[in-house]
Amino acid sequence: MLEARGLGVQIGSTTILQEISLRLHPGELCALIGPSGAGKSTLIKVLLGLRSPSEGTVTVSGGPISSAGPVGYVPQDDALHHSLTVRQALTFSARLRLHTVDPAGQGARIDAVCEQVGLGERLDVRIRSLSGGQRKRVSVALELLSQPDLLILDEPTSGLDPGLEAKMMGLFADVAGGGRVVMVATHAMQSLSRCDVLAVLVRGRLAWLGRPADALRWFEVDRFAGIFDQLPRHAPPVWARRWMGSQECRTFAGRPPPPVRGAAPERLADTSTPQPPATAPDLKAQLEALKAEYARKKP
Ligand SMILES: Nc1ncnc2c1ncn2[C@@H]1O[C@H](COP(=O)(O)OP(=O)(O)OP(=O)(O)O)[C@@H](O)[C@H]1O
Ligand SMILES: [Mg+2]
Repeated sequence: MLEARGLGVQIGSTTILQEISLRLHPGELCALIGPSGAGKSTLIKVLLGLRSPSEGTVTVSGGPISSAGPVGYVPQDDALHHSLTVRQALTFSARLRLHTVDPAGQGARIDAVCEQVGLGERLDVRIRSLSGGQRKRVSVALELLSQPDLLILDEPTSGLDPGLEAKMMGLFADVAGGGRVVMVATHAMQSLSRCDVLAVLVRGRLAWLGRPADALRWFEVDRFAGIFDQLPRHAPPVWARRWMGSQECRTFAGRPPPPVRGAAPERLADTSTPQPPATAPDLKAQLEALKAEYARKKP
Protein backbone atom coordinates (compact mmCIF):
# COMPACT_ATOMS: atom_id res chain seq x y z
CA MET A 1 0.00 0.00 0.00
CA LEU A 2 1.21 3.50 -0.86
CA GLU A 3 0.34 6.06 1.78
CA ALA A 4 1.06 9.79 1.96
CA ARG A 5 0.19 11.80 5.05
CA GLY A 6 0.08 15.56 5.23
CA LEU A 7 2.60 16.17 2.45
CA GLY A 8 3.79 19.70 1.91
CA VAL A 9 6.50 21.10 -0.34
CA GLN A 10 7.79 24.60 0.07
CA ILE A 11 10.43 26.05 -2.26
CA GLY A 12 11.67 29.36 -0.92
CA SER A 13 8.55 31.32 -0.11
CA THR A 14 6.43 29.38 -2.62
CA THR A 15 4.15 26.58 -1.51
CA ILE A 16 4.07 23.91 -4.20
CA LEU A 17 2.10 21.23 -2.31
CA GLN A 18 0.05 21.43 0.86
CA GLU A 19 -1.77 18.88 3.04
CA ILE A 20 -1.75 16.03 0.56
CA SER A 21 -2.90 12.76 2.05
CA LEU A 22 -3.75 9.69 0.03
CA ARG A 23 -3.76 5.94 0.30
CA LEU A 24 -3.64 3.54 -2.64
CA HIS A 25 -4.06 -0.21 -2.34
CA PRO A 26 -2.36 -2.89 -4.44
CA GLY A 27 -4.66 -3.54 -7.39
CA GLU A 28 -5.57 0.12 -7.87
CA LEU A 29 -4.83 2.29 -10.89
CA CYS A 30 -4.92 5.95 -9.91
CA ALA A 31 -5.04 8.80 -12.42
CA LEU A 32 -3.62 12.09 -11.22
CA ILE A 33 -5.05 15.08 -13.06
CA GLY A 34 -4.95 18.82 -12.62
CA PRO A 35 -4.08 21.99 -14.52
CA SER A 36 -0.52 22.51 -15.71
CA GLY A 37 1.59 23.65 -12.75
CA ALA A 38 -0.80 22.11 -10.18
CA GLY A 39 2.05 20.06 -8.70
CA LYS A 40 1.54 16.61 -10.23
CA SER A 41 5.20 16.00 -11.12
CA THR A 42 6.31 17.38 -7.76
CA LEU A 43 3.91 15.08 -5.92
CA ILE A 44 5.18 12.10 -7.92
CA LYS A 45 8.78 12.92 -7.04
CA VAL A 46 7.89 13.17 -3.36
CA LEU A 47 5.98 9.88 -3.44
CA LEU A 48 8.99 8.20 -5.02
CA GLY A 49 11.45 9.69 -2.55
CA LEU A 50 13.19 11.70 -5.27
CA ARG A 51 12.35 14.94 -3.48
CA SER A 52 12.03 15.39 0.27
CA PRO A 53 8.78 16.90 1.46
CA SER A 54 8.92 19.94 3.71
CA GLU A 55 6.18 18.27 5.76
CA GLY A 56 4.54 14.88 5.97
CA THR A 57 5.51 11.29 5.29
CA VAL A 58 5.31 8.68 2.55
CA THR A 59 5.24 4.97 3.28
CA VAL A 60 5.02 1.88 1.11
CA SER A 61 3.52 -1.13 2.90
CA GLY A 62 4.13 0.72 6.17
CA GLY A 63 7.87 1.31 5.63
CA PRO A 64 10.05 3.83 3.86
CA ILE A 65 10.14 3.63 0.08
CA SER A 66 13.86 2.79 0.26
CA SER A 67 12.93 -0.59 1.73
CA ALA A 68 10.10 -1.27 -0.76
CA GLY A 69 10.41 -3.82 -3.56
CA PRO A 70 11.08 -2.78 -7.15
CA VAL A 71 9.68 0.65 -7.99
CA GLY A 72 9.10 1.89 -11.54
CA TYR A 73 9.15 5.55 -12.58
CA VAL A 74 8.57 7.02 -16.01
CA PRO A 75 9.50 10.71 -15.75
CA GLN A 76 7.75 13.43 -17.71
CA ASP A 77 10.95 13.99 -19.71
CA ASP A 78 12.38 10.80 -21.15
CA ALA A 79 15.77 9.71 -19.87
CA LEU A 80 16.82 7.47 -22.76
CA HIS A 81 20.12 6.90 -24.57
CA HIS A 82 19.14 8.00 -28.04
CA SER A 83 22.00 6.27 -29.84
CA LEU A 84 20.94 2.80 -28.65
CA THR A 85 18.43 0.65 -30.47
CA VAL A 86 15.30 -0.32 -28.58
CA ARG A 87 16.66 -3.86 -28.22
CA GLN A 88 20.01 -2.62 -26.83
CA ALA A 89 18.32 -0.32 -24.33
CA LEU A 90 16.07 -3.13 -23.13
CA THR A 91 18.92 -5.66 -23.02
CA PHE A 92 21.22 -3.40 -20.99
CA SER A 93 18.41 -2.50 -18.65
CA ALA A 94 17.37 -6.15 -18.26
CA ARG A 95 20.95 -7.09 -17.30
CA LEU A 96 20.98 -4.47 -14.58
CA ARG A 97 17.45 -4.87 -13.29
CA LEU A 98 17.08 -8.63 -13.71
CA HIS A 99 20.60 -9.62 -12.71
CA THR A 100 19.37 -12.75 -10.90
CA VAL A 101 17.55 -13.96 -14.05
CA ASP A 102 19.44 -15.96 -16.70
CA PRO A 103 19.84 -14.47 -20.23
CA ALA A 104 17.03 -16.62 -21.64
CA GLY A 105 14.70 -15.37 -18.90
CA GLN A 106 15.77 -11.80 -19.57
CA GLY A 107 15.08 -12.29 -23.29
CA ALA A 108 11.62 -13.66 -22.54
CA ARG A 109 10.86 -10.65 -20.33
CA ILE A 110 12.01 -8.27 -23.08
CA ASP A 111 9.75 -10.01 -25.60
CA ALA A 112 6.84 -9.84 -23.14
CA VAL A 113 7.16 -6.09 -22.43
CA CYS A 114 7.63 -5.29 -26.15
CA GLU A 115 4.45 -7.19 -26.84
CA GLN A 116 2.68 -5.31 -24.01
CA VAL A 117 3.60 -1.86 -25.30
CA GLY A 118 3.42 -2.74 -29.00
CA LEU A 119 7.07 -2.14 -29.84
CA GLY A 120 7.85 -5.53 -31.41
CA GLU A 121 8.29 -4.03 -34.90
CA ARG A 122 10.70 -1.31 -33.75
CA LEU A 123 13.21 -3.39 -31.79
CA ASP A 124 16.16 -2.67 -34.08
CA VAL A 125 15.48 1.03 -34.60
CA ARG A 126 17.67 3.59 -32.83
CA ILE A 127 15.76 5.49 -30.16
CA ARG A 128 16.64 8.80 -31.81
CA SER A 129 14.70 7.67 -34.91
CA LEU A 130 11.51 6.84 -33.02
CA SER A 131 8.46 9.08 -32.82
CA GLY A 132 7.72 10.83 -29.51
CA GLY A 133 4.97 8.33 -28.69
CA GLN A 134 7.23 5.37 -29.49
CA ARG A 135 9.95 6.79 -27.23
CA LYS A 136 7.40 7.08 -24.42
CA ARG A 137 6.58 3.42 -24.93
CA VAL A 138 10.26 2.50 -24.66
CA SER A 139 10.37 4.33 -21.31
CA VAL A 140 7.32 2.38 -20.15
CA ALA A 141 8.76 -0.93 -21.39
CA LEU A 142 12.01 -0.33 -19.46
CA GLU A 143 10.05 0.13 -16.24
CA LEU A 144 7.83 -2.90 -16.84
CA LEU A 145 10.89 -5.18 -17.13
CA SER A 146 11.23 -5.60 -13.39
CA GLN A 147 7.47 -5.97 -12.76
CA PRO A 148 7.53 -3.28 -10.07
CA ASP A 149 5.08 -3.41 -7.16
CA LEU A 150 4.76 0.38 -7.40
CA LEU A 151 4.72 2.00 -10.83
CA ILE A 152 4.35 5.76 -11.23
CA LEU A 153 4.23 7.31 -14.67
CA ASP A 154 4.30 11.04 -15.38
CA GLU A 155 2.30 11.70 -18.55
CA PRO A 156 3.25 8.40 -20.21
CA THR A 157 0.60 8.82 -22.89
CA SER A 158 1.51 12.31 -24.06
CA GLY A 159 2.20 12.14 -27.78
CA LEU A 160 0.10 9.00 -28.26
CA ASP A 161 -2.92 8.93 -30.55
CA PRO A 162 -6.28 8.31 -28.78
CA GLY A 163 -6.35 4.61 -29.74
CA LEU A 164 -2.88 3.98 -28.36
CA GLU A 165 -3.61 6.09 -25.27
CA ALA A 166 -6.63 3.87 -24.53
CA LYS A 167 -4.53 0.74 -25.06
CA MET A 168 -1.78 1.98 -22.74
CA MET A 169 -4.29 2.87 -20.03
CA GLY A 170 -5.71 -0.63 -20.47
CA LEU A 171 -2.20 -2.00 -19.99
CA PHE A 172 -1.72 0.04 -16.79
CA ALA A 173 -5.10 -1.23 -15.53
CA ASP A 174 -3.92 -4.79 -16.21
CA VAL A 175 -0.61 -4.18 -14.41
CA ALA A 176 -2.49 -2.78 -11.41
CA GLY A 177 -4.98 -5.65 -11.58
CA GLY A 178 -2.11 -8.06 -10.92
CA GLY A 179 -1.78 -6.64 -7.40
CA ARG A 180 0.33 -3.54 -7.96
CA VAL A 181 -0.12 0.13 -7.24
CA VAL A 182 -0.03 2.19 -10.45
CA MET A 183 -0.31 5.96 -10.59
CA VAL A 184 -0.48 7.88 -13.87
CA ALA A 185 -0.35 11.66 -14.18
CA THR A 186 -2.21 12.57 -17.32
CA HIS A 187 -3.86 15.33 -19.29
CA ALA A 188 -5.79 12.77 -21.39
CA MET A 189 -9.39 12.54 -20.28
CA GLN A 190 -10.82 9.79 -22.48
CA SER A 191 -9.67 6.78 -20.43
CA LEU A 192 -10.18 8.08 -16.89
CA SER A 193 -13.22 5.89 -16.33
CA ARG A 194 -10.92 2.84 -16.62
CA CYS A 195 -9.11 3.95 -13.46
CA ASP A 196 -10.03 2.79 -9.96
CA VAL A 197 -9.12 6.10 -8.35
CA LEU A 198 -9.02 9.67 -9.60
CA ALA A 199 -6.98 12.34 -7.81
CA VAL A 200 -7.55 15.98 -8.73
CA LEU A 201 -4.84 18.42 -7.82
CA VAL A 202 -5.32 22.19 -8.00
CA ARG A 203 -2.51 24.63 -7.14
CA GLY A 204 -0.87 22.13 -4.80
CA ARG A 205 -4.06 21.02 -3.03
CA LEU A 206 -6.00 17.81 -3.34
CA ALA A 207 -9.48 18.78 -4.51
CA TRP A 208 -10.75 15.20 -4.91
CA LEU A 209 -9.66 11.60 -4.39
CA GLY A 210 -12.21 8.94 -5.17
CA ARG A 211 -13.94 6.91 -7.84
CA PRO A 212 -13.86 8.60 -11.26
CA ALA A 213 -17.64 8.32 -11.72
CA ASP A 214 -18.25 9.96 -8.32
CA ALA A 215 -15.95 12.84 -9.32
CA LEU A 216 -18.34 13.78 -12.12
CA ARG A 217 -21.12 14.10 -9.55
CA TRP A 218 -18.90 15.98 -7.06
CA PHE A 219 -17.86 18.56 -9.65
CA GLU A 220 -21.38 18.62 -11.21
CA VAL A 221 -20.14 17.85 -14.71
CA ASP A 222 -20.94 15.17 -17.26
CA ARG A 223 -17.43 14.71 -18.67
CA PHE A 224 -14.01 14.72 -17.03
CA ALA A 225 -12.73 17.71 -19.00
CA GLY A 226 -15.53 19.73 -17.37
CA ILE A 227 -13.75 19.37 -14.00
CA PHE A 228 -11.12 21.84 -15.23
CA ASP A 229 -13.83 24.42 -16.00
CA GLN A 230 -15.23 24.04 -12.48
CA LEU A 231 -11.95 24.45 -10.58
CA PRO A 232 -11.84 28.28 -10.77
CA ARG A 233 -15.22 28.39 -8.95
CA HIS A 234 -13.49 28.07 -5.57
CA ALA A 235 -10.04 28.84 -4.20
CA PRO A 236 -7.84 25.69 -3.89
CA PRO A 237 -8.00 25.65 -0.05
CA VAL A 238 -11.81 25.75 -0.27
CA TRP A 239 -11.84 22.74 -2.62
CA ALA A 240 -9.46 20.90 -0.28
CA ARG A 241 -11.53 21.68 2.83
CA ARG A 242 -14.79 20.69 1.12
CA TRP A 243 -13.26 17.39 0.07
CA MET A 244 -11.57 16.56 3.38
CA GLY A 245 -14.73 17.42 5.35
CA SER A 246 -17.03 15.33 3.16
CA GLN A 247 -18.69 12.02 3.87
CA GLU A 248 -17.41 10.83 0.45
CA CYS A 249 -13.82 11.39 1.65
CA ARG A 250 -14.36 9.30 4.80
CA THR A 251 -16.17 6.52 2.94
CA PHE A 252 -13.47 6.35 0.30
CA ALA A 253 -10.66 6.32 2.85
CA GLY A 254 -12.23 3.26 4.48
CA ARG A 255 -12.70 1.31 1.25
CA PRO A 256 -11.53 -2.30 1.21
CA PRO A 257 -8.57 -3.24 -0.99
CA PRO A 258 -9.70 -4.58 -4.37
CA PRO A 259 -9.49 -8.31 -5.05
CA VAL A 260 -6.39 -9.19 -7.05
CA ARG A 261 -7.23 -10.63 -10.46
CA GLY A 262 -5.60 -13.97 -11.37
CA ALA A 263 -2.56 -15.26 -9.53
CA ALA A 264 -0.91 -12.81 -7.17
CA PRO A 265 2.59 -11.83 -8.28
CA GLU A 266 5.25 -13.79 -6.40
CA ARG A 267 6.70 -10.82 -4.57
CA LEU A 268 3.36 -9.89 -3.02
CA ALA A 269 2.30 -13.47 -2.26
CA ASP A 270 5.65 -14.24 -0.74
CA THR A 271 5.39 -12.46 2.59
CA SER A 272 5.01 -15.52 4.83
CA THR A 273 7.94 -17.62 3.61
CA PRO A 274 11.32 -16.01 4.18
CA GLN A 275 13.61 -16.68 1.23
CA PRO A 276 17.38 -17.00 1.45
CA PRO A 277 18.98 -13.73 0.33
CA ALA A 278 20.13 -13.73 -3.28
CA THR A 279 23.88 -13.63 -3.72
CA ALA A 280 24.89 -9.98 -3.64
CA PRO A 281 25.58 -9.04 -7.25
CA ASP A 282 28.73 -7.16 -8.10
CA LEU A 283 26.77 -4.27 -9.59
CA LYS A 284 29.83 -2.11 -10.11
CA ALA A 285 31.53 -4.79 -12.19
CA GLN A 286 28.32 -5.35 -14.17
CA LEU A 287 28.02 -1.63 -14.83
CA GLU A 288 31.62 -1.45 -16.04
CA ALA A 289 31.03 -4.43 -18.35
CA LEU A 290 27.92 -2.79 -19.76
CA LYS A 291 29.73 0.50 -20.28
CA ALA A 292 32.51 -1.32 -22.15
CA GLU A 293 29.96 -3.18 -24.29
CA TYR A 294 28.11 0.05 -25.02
CA ALA A 295 31.35 1.81 -26.00
CA ARG A 296 32.19 -1.10 -28.37
CA LYS A 297 28.75 -0.94 -30.01
CA LYS A 298 28.64 2.85 -30.26
CA PRO A 299 28.49 3.89 -33.95
N1 LIG B 1 12.61 23.17 -8.52
C1 LIG B 1 11.62 24.06 -8.52
N2 LIG B 1 11.82 25.33 -8.07
C2 LIG B 1 10.82 26.24 -8.06
N3 LIG B 1 9.57 25.96 -8.46
C3 LIG B 1 9.31 24.74 -8.92
C4 LIG B 1 10.31 23.72 -8.97
N4 LIG B 1 9.75 22.59 -9.47
C5 LIG B 1 8.47 22.91 -9.72
N5 LIG B 1 8.20 24.18 -9.39
C6 LIG B 1 6.91 24.87 -9.52
O1 LIG B 1 5.96 24.06 -8.86
C7 LIG B 1 4.72 24.12 -9.54
C8 LIG B 1 4.27 22.70 -9.83
O2 LIG B 1 5.13 22.14 -10.83
P1 LIG B 1 4.91 20.68 -11.37
O3 LIG B 1 5.94 20.41 -12.40
O4 LIG B 1 4.83 19.75 -10.23
O5 LIG B 1 3.46 20.82 -12.04
P2 LIG B 1 2.64 19.79 -12.95
O6 LIG B 1 1.28 19.69 -12.37
O7 LIG B 1 3.41 18.54 -13.11
O8 LIG B 1 2.54 20.57 -14.34
P3 LIG B 1 2.49 19.97 -15.84
O9 LIG B 1 1.08 19.46 -16.04
O10 LIG B 1 2.74 21.19 -16.69
O11 LIG B 1 3.54 18.94 -15.98
C9 LIG B 1 4.93 24.97 -10.79
O12 LIG B 1 4.45 26.26 -10.52
C10 LIG B 1 6.43 24.99 -10.96
O13 LIG B 1 6.85 26.19 -11.54
MG1 LIG C 1 4.28 17.60 -14.72
